[in-house]
Amino acid sequence: MSTPRLRVLLVGAGGVIGRWVHQALANDCTVITAGLDDAQHQVNLTDVASIQTLLQAVHSKGGPLDAVISTAGRASFARLADIDAADGEQSTYNLGLQDKLMGQVNLALAARAVLKPGGVIVLTTGTTSREPIIGGSSLSMVNGALECWVRAAATELGSGLRLNAVSPSLVEGTSAAACAAFPGFAPVSGAQVGLAYVRCLRSGLTGQIVIV
Ligand SMILES: NC(=O)c1ccc[n+]([C@@H]2O[C@H](COP(=O)([O-])OP(=O)(O)OC[C@H]3O[C@@H](n4cnc5c(N)ncnc54)[C@H](OP(=O)(O)O)[C@@H]3O)[C@@H](O)[C@H]2O)c1
Repeated sequence: MSTPRLRVLLVGAGGVIGRWVHQALANDCTVITAGLDDAQHQVNLTDVASIQTLLQAVHSKGGPLDAVISTAGRASFARLADIDAADGEQSTYNLGLQDKLMGQVNLALAARAVLKPGGVIVLTTGTTSREPIIGGSSLSMVNGALECWVRAAATELGSGLRLNAVSPSLVEGTSAAACAAFPGFAPVSGAQVGLAYVRCLRSGLTGQIVIV
């Protein structure tokens, strides 16, 4: 059985995970890359107009997509002792809520308009939804919310569209500074992480959180 070639938009392609995913898809997908700077297309997930501009540009050049993948999304590290309810809009939580959570949710919502029937959306969460780290309450909150949203939203997508998330542990190739926030975690293979996104695209899964 031959594998159909898929046209995939990869947001966050220049990052640690994005590069592993690009490598995993390179043989049998046409990958269109997007990111803040380091990609074919620039997009800021915190800005809905920027997401729409990206999707329209990609659609107008080559028609509907088979898949939209996000390996993007920022959140801040901060110890709970340094977070105060009075921080309001300056809260350390805001970056994760606006960027990693709502950025990916808005990308998924907007992607419905440019996907073929049966198309796939894959988002990225992370291990802190299950395994807390010190200073990681923002990441835990955002990853947990995103995973719940994926399970719920997948049931309502229609048009045969599918929605999944990959939830990696610490990934091979992550900077030493970021690894230091995860004491006792052994990095997981980047190739395995890439394959988790392939499973989300190719194996018919929907509403699933694929843990690596
Ligand atoms: N690395 C890990 O061990 C690990 C483990 C589990 C989960 N995660 C999660 O996976 C995601 C990616 O991690 P990573 O380590 O690959 O990060 P990374 O190396 O910092 O790469 C992030 C990528 O996302 C893009 N990006 C960031 N903010 C964006 C925005 N607002 N709009 C559009 N693009 C944006 C960046 O674009 P530019 O390249 O142009 O800057 C970059 O390509 C993060 O949400 C992280 O929490 C990471």
